[in-house]
Amino acid sequence: MTLKKQHYLLNRAEEACTLLKEHLDQDHVVRVISHNDADGISAAGVICNAISQEGGKFHVTMVPRLNEETLDRLSREKYKLFFFCDMGSGYVKRIGRLRGQAVIADHHQTMDSNGDDEESLVHVNPHLFGLDGTRDVSASGVTYLTVKPLEKVELTGLALVGAFGDMQYADGFTGVNQTILKEATESGVVTEHEDLKISSKDDPLYKALAHTFKPAIPGISGNLEKSQAFLEKIGISYGIKFTDLANEEKDFLTEHLTKMNPKVFDTVYSMPKEDPALRNLENYAEILDACGKNKNYAVGLSICLGERESAISQGVEFLSKYRDSLIRGISWISREGAQEMDYVQYLYTEDKENKKIMGTLASLGIDLNILTPEKPVITLSRMHNLVKISGRTTLEMTQRGVNLGFALEQAAKSFNGAGGGHNIAAGAVVPYKELENFKNLVNDIVSTQVT
Ligand code: C5P
Ligand code: C5P
Ligand code: C5P
Repeated sequence: MTLKKQHYLLNRAEEACTLLKEHLDQDHVVRVISHNDADGISAAGVICNAISQEGGKFHVTMVPRLNEETLDRLSREKYKLFFFCDMGSGYVKRIGRLRGQAVIADHHQTMDSNGDDEESLVHVNPHLFGLDGTRDVSASGVTYLTVKPLEKVELTGLALVGAFGDMQYADGFTGVNQTILKEATESGVVTEHEDLKISSKDDPLYKALAHTFKPAIPGISGNLEKSQAFLEKIGISYGIKFTDLANEEKDFLTEHLTKMNPKVFDTVYSMPKEDPALRNLENYAEILDACGKNKNYAVGLSICLGERESAISQGVEFLSKYRDSLIRGISWISREGAQEMDYVQYLYTEDKENKKIMGTLASLGIDLNILTPEKPVITLSRMHNLVKISGRTTLEMTQRGVNLGFALEQAAKSFNGAGGGHNIAAGAVVPYKELENFKNLVNDIVSTQVT
């Protein structure tokens, strides 16, 4: 059944590929528009690499999300082919009216039309075929499917980097991601091995552990003092590097860490041919994520395009800054906690640094047992007279009926805002003056969702 659905998705992706090829054959510059997060940057990397390899040209722009303003700007452009990654499914009709033809390679659930009656575009989205776009495939994966007929197996690694970026990995990959992983490992592009998943093996251990967020280790991730105290307690020198430990000490440490989170010793996916900083797919995704959070999308894209040296070292620097701000953010939520309502909990900030990482802090707050997993976390970041919202919850809550994408979309629309996303992670923007009304409505909507 699922394989059949995947087959339909692949057919649709092939149609997109045919359209792309027609334009490349006519030397048209492809206008790529993608999302500015790790998955969006990976997706742009996939399509731009494929276009280059085919001898074509592209003009790429990364945006936080598609809106009327961006679409107005694009509607004045005279490109013959627009290629949307990680966005567009909510604007099929609008995109159908652009001057050129279009491909939409998206994985969000919001859909204004399936696109079947739009002659000038090909709409590729797993939700159109009853597949799950939240867990089973990311935008970089969907984009990979659109270039797969051109024999781009070496791009399977990047296709999975986006899936890690969107946190689709949980005890393995499922669905389309699993199919892509199979292709990647069978061709040797990606290899797997079991290993301890700490942020670094060459930094002092207490830092390496406190900087480990994927997976999150409760009581240790984000907390340098507790990390140090933990190492002292088990009798390992906190300043030593993991690589300098004796083998039995490595085993001893691993044993203790897996007690706190079994996922800390798990499968690691690597691209053996990649630069060491990017070899581990999850690290690669973290670097792109940090580029996104730092608003240096170009650096992220350069990394994906192989314009290396300086871009990689910049990316690594962004990651280090990003981890420092996570440590400060975690300390903030540990101190302040969340404001709880009956069905949801809120985190509010006006702090410039925190605003950039609120979505991540919401996820980490749950993973680190700082916030209750029983209520979705809704973060509120004040931006002058607007509030930017990020919602995060758990798989268990979505299984109990919670769908944050629909909740935030509906609530935001009621107060002159806009929102959407996935069941487990979503966002919105609303006028600041409606904040209290919005908070109450989200609480009400979620109360009707939980069964
Ligand atoms: O825009 P997009 O779909 O790419 O973003 C999805 C967001 O959802 C990412 O920020 C990702 O980290 C988040 N997510 C999450 N937990 C999950 C799945 C996704 O926080 N289990
Ligand atoms: O846009 P992106 O998905 O990269 O945003 C990641 C997180 O950063 C969001 O979940 C949001 O909490 C936060 N953010 C913000 N204000 C911005 C940009 C990002 O609050 N202007
Ligand atoms: O911004 P943040 O990372 O919290 O977004 C989480 C998810 O919600 C992403 O998939 C994003 O594309 C989606 N979103 C949306 N509409 C908004 C804000 C976020 O569809 N206005």
